[in-house]
This record gives sequence, C-alpha cells and structure tokens, in this order.
Amino acid sequence: METLQEIAKAMVAAGKGILAADESPGTAGKRLASINTESTPDSRRQYREVFLGTEGVENYLSGVIFHDETFRQSLSTGVSFVELLQGLGIIPGIKVDMGLQDLPNFSGEKYTQGITGLKERLAEYYAMGARFAKWRAAFSIGENLPSDTCVETNCVAMAMYALLCQEAGIVPIVEPEILLEGSHSIEESYEVTTRVLKELFATLKRYKVQMDGVILKSSMVISGNKNENRANAATVGEMTIKCLKESVPSEVPGVVFLSGGQIADEATENLYEINKAASLSEGGVPWQLTFSYARALQGPSLASWNGHDENIPAARERFLERMKANSAARMGEVA
Ligand code: 13P
Repeated sequence: METLQEIAKAMVAAGKGILAADESPGTAGKRLASINTESTPDSRRQYREVFLGTEGVENYLSGVIFHDETFRQSLSTGVSFVELLQGLGIIPGIKVDMGLQDLPNFSGEKYTQGITGLKERLAEYYAMGARFAKWRAAFSIGENLPSDTCVETNCVAMAMYALLCQEAGIVPIVEPEILLEGSHSIEESYEVTTRVLKELFATLKRYKVQMDGVILKSSMVISGNKNENRANAATVGEMTIKCLKESVPSEVPGVVFLSGGQIADEATENLYEINKAASLSEGGVPWQLTFSYARALQGPSLASWNGHDENIPAARERFLERMKANSAARMGEVA
C-alpha cells in the first residue's frame, strides 16, 4: 500500500475508524489528573498501552493518530507502538500541527501553528512509518465568530500543510473543528460548518491539493452544549449530510468525525444517524463516513482503568465496547 489514494481508502475501510490517541502531553496530563494519576512520560505511555494493548483492535481500527511523544514510545514488552500497529495492519498517523495560538486583533479566535520545519519533520515521520498526518484548526461559534480572517488564515495553513504532506507521501487529515462549546443552535452550527468547509476546499483546490488523497476530519452539525433545546440525533444526521453534500468534493474518499466532548453514547448514535441519513439521501453520498474519536472511544475506559493495573482488563473491555458500537454505527447498523 503506497499511493496516497490507496492509503486514504484504507484509512476509511468498511467497518473501521481511526483512534485519535494524539492528545498533547498537556492534554493527556489532564486526562490522567481526572483519575488522580501523575502525568509523566511513562504514565502517558501506560495510558496508551491500556488502549493499544487491547486484543482485537485491528478489527475496528484502520489507523491511530499519535503525538510525537507516543510515536517514539514502546509497549512494556519493548515493541514500539508504531511496530505494533504495523504488525496488526493498522496505519500509524502523526499529529503535526504545533497547537493553537491567539489570533492578534481577533478576540477569542485562534490560528494553528506548525508550518516552519514541517517538510523536515514529515520526512522523518515517513521514515519512521507514518503514512498519514493530522492538522487541527479550531473555530468558536459566537457573535460575528468565526471571522472571515480567522477562517481564511487557518484554511491557508491547512492547504500548505496538506501540500507538504502529499509531497512527502503522507495523507493529510484536515481537521477544521467547530467547537461544541456554546449556546448556539444547530442551524448556526450548520451555517458555520458549511462556510468553513466551503472555504477550506476552495483553498485546497487553489493549492492543487489532490482531493482523492486527503481525508476530512469534521465536527458534526450539532447544537452547542449549552443550548437548552438541543436538536435530536436524527436532525444531527440529516443536517450533517446536507452540509457535507454542499461543501465536500466527491473525490474525497472519506469524512471522519471527531467527538468534540459529546458523551460516548451520543457520539455513537449521531454517527449511526449520519450514516442512515447518507443512505436515505437522494443519490447517496460519495464518501465513507466514520469515526476518529479520542474522548468518545477512550473516556469510559479511562474511568474503568483509574490508573490501576488490576483494572486494565475491565478498561479494555469497555474500549472494545466503544469500538464495536462505533464500527456498527459507521456501517449504519446498531451493535
Ligand atoms: P475528540 O474525539 O475527543 O474530540 O478528539 C478528536 C480529535 O482528534 C480532536 O482533535
């Protein structure tokens, strides 16, 4: 499997999805703090091993996204995480953006940094086995937010990142996350998501990014988490499909969704409804629609593990449950 097109297709293979295990050391530290565990390189390594050491992950995962730290770490057996995945036929991926910064003069808005040195970093990651990468931009919905400037700035950076990835033989995941935080309605989410995705794909096109060698990681079209009258899952499904059909080129092989702070069951139900709406929509859809969750796959398991070795089997059981449920949902089925 070598071409961008082959890799991209394998990333969204039937019945499978992607585990986002790429929380920065800071964010992983917050997850560990929630179970009263000190965050050190080794405790973060153990946290990854709880999930990746689960027997049968290859039945549900097409790929795993790592942060630089984990990309260089190993299981307690000494086998590196990357080698483990390669042996299981799961594609190793790497988060390459360098995080969010405040956009000066645009209060409450962020831009994503990480283009400097990216060409060299991609060459190193490719040599170490990475075949896809991820870059995340984040947009808040609010009064006059996101601004056109914030959208444009982030889309240009994502296009440059995508170009450099494809040049390096790495499939870029472009992730413009519309944040769940806020009291916005699902209609506002629909408007903002559509606006951002249209601008993103217009920019990727201008930069001559190969559309059949890129994967979109999108948020769902969904009411804000503080909205008092949140739309139901069926509406999330229908409006997400409407938005994607208006903004994502048909050559793109797949759209993978982030969970964004939804509770685990909600993220599964919404993924099911998105796939259902896709199959019911006129002419169907040209893309595979699957999951690329961090919290909605790992959250319940983290609570079961609670930092204690004796709880690892139970934690892995819960991780398997989440993977099975989302694998079914991604096929428009209920587990
Ligand atoms: P969540 O599923 O927890 O939103 O994380 C996915 C992700 O990769 C965010 O960048």
